[in-house]
Amino acid sequence: IPVEPFDCVVFGGTGDLAERKLLPALYHRQMDEQLSEPTRIIGASRAPMTDEEYRAYARTALKEHLKGDDYREDQVERFCARLFYVSVDAKSEQGWDKLRDLLEEGKERIRAFYLAVAPSLFGPIAEQLRDHKMITRQSRIVVEKPIGRDLASALELNNTIGKVFREEQIFRIDHYLGKETVQNLMALRFANALYEPLWNSAHIDHVQITVAESVGLEGRAGYYDKAGALRDMVQNHMLQLLCLVAMEAPSSLEAEAVRDEKLKVLRALKPINSSNVEKLTVRGQYRAGASAGGPVKGYLEELEGGVSNTETFVAIKAEIGNWRWAGVPFYLRTGKRLAARMSEIVISFKPIPHSIFDDAAGRITANQLVIRLQPDEGVKQWLMIKDPGPGGMRLRHVSLDMTFAEAFSVRNPDAYERLLTDVIRSNQTLFMRRDEVEAAWKWVDPILKGWEATGQAVQGYTAGTWGPSHAIALIERDGRTWHEVG
Ligand code: BG6
Repeated sequence: IPVEPFDCVVFGGTGDLAERKLLPALYHRQMDEQLSEPTRIIGASRAPMTDEEYRAYARTALKEHLKGDDYREDQVERFCARLFYVSVDAKSEQGWDKLRDLLEEGKERIRAFYLAVAPSLFGPIAEQLRDHKMITRQSRIVVEKPIGRDLASALELNNTIGKVFREEQIFRIDHYLGKETVQNLMALRFANALYEPLWNSAHIDHVQITVAESVGLEGRAGYYDKAGALRDMVQNHMLQLLCLVAMEAPSSLEAEAVRDEKLKVLRALKPINSSNVEKLTVRGQYRAGASAGGPVKGYLEELEGGVSNTETFVAIKAEIGNWRWAGVPFYLRTGKRLAARMSEIVISFKPIPHSIFDDAAGRITANQLVIRLQPDEGVKQWLMIKDPGPGGMRLRHVSLDMTFAEAFSVRNPDAYERLLTDVIRSNQTLFMRRDEVEAAWKWVDPILKGWEATGQAVQGYTAGTWGPSHAIALIERDGRTWHEVG
């Protein structure tokens, strides 16, 4: 179904996100005939550029980031005709009148201001938009992470944007919420009667959430070295995944209903601080090793300064203090330069209470539900069955496998495609509300402070492995193991 015509102003229009994600996502929405006329995309950044130059820039970006067949001359030209460019400077008067005049041409149209820029510019840009009278009733603002680097700075950022835009106009993107399998988690839990009765501490032994990346710094050292894995991945993406696994059933899919439930989970997370941080967390940093068949540098060699205590890997044993989850550990781990790009959520059920099978039947493994986010999106339910054949009762652990690529022949849309159309439709369900971001920081802050207070060291790990041995010990101490990738 097409969305209403809109003008989308992308601040940071020549940046990495616009090039890799936003332009390709909007192009795909056009290919699927979801953009109505006259929709325009207006690139905005400091560099001087004409509309034509911006179109040329977009052609190159699309050529590079679309899969072969998706780049179609006619579609690309149709897309480029929607593109405009304005050179603006957040901190001076430059370009703002021109931008306003351009937007005036579509006065009644929906306006989306997408801030793909450093958070230090969120405030100045919002104020310029207000001062130049560009914010209409139909306007919304989209902000990317990082929303702060701790609770205090997140509060400040939220206050600054909140002075100019109303909460329902502010879309805080966490692109993990736009991933197909993440949304499937909601379908799995709340469109099936099978799981929900078992979804609690009486039946679930523990949960694992892994977001592993094989890439290293990708030229983002300036940002990453100041952030580290906890701020970059856990405060946002991983806690959002944890919320979707752990939340109570919302009364509807309506934004406030879903976000209220996620907020309760965040608030119920048991504190980790200097008193227990060394027991419950592991910090790691990659050393030289191998990735994708070739040698790769260590983190410190990738940095120009060569000295850093920033973690590129983190593992955490988290717990949620409420009736449903008391005593069920949530083991989280994420890192750069790990053995594979692989994200999954594993729900490990409790073992059966009593076995009627003798030793010859083999070991009985507890059931597991594995939700694979990427790559090879899908869901696997691991079960025990009898090995076929007349050879007596031998048990085998097998999976009911729902690999989405096999089950459905449609293209798997990128998270941004879904999220951008939600912005236009003004659907906030998959966006973070202000209090969620703040509650997440409230849990993360004491971990950061705990690391500082205890001087908790980063453990080296070889690039291309599954992280430091301390992370293996973190879970094995409890008599459990990380789910093996296969
Ligand atoms: C971003 C992080 O939010 O997510 C990056 O800043 C990370 O460091 C990326 O690489 C991972 O996203 P995806 O969609 O590739 O799993």
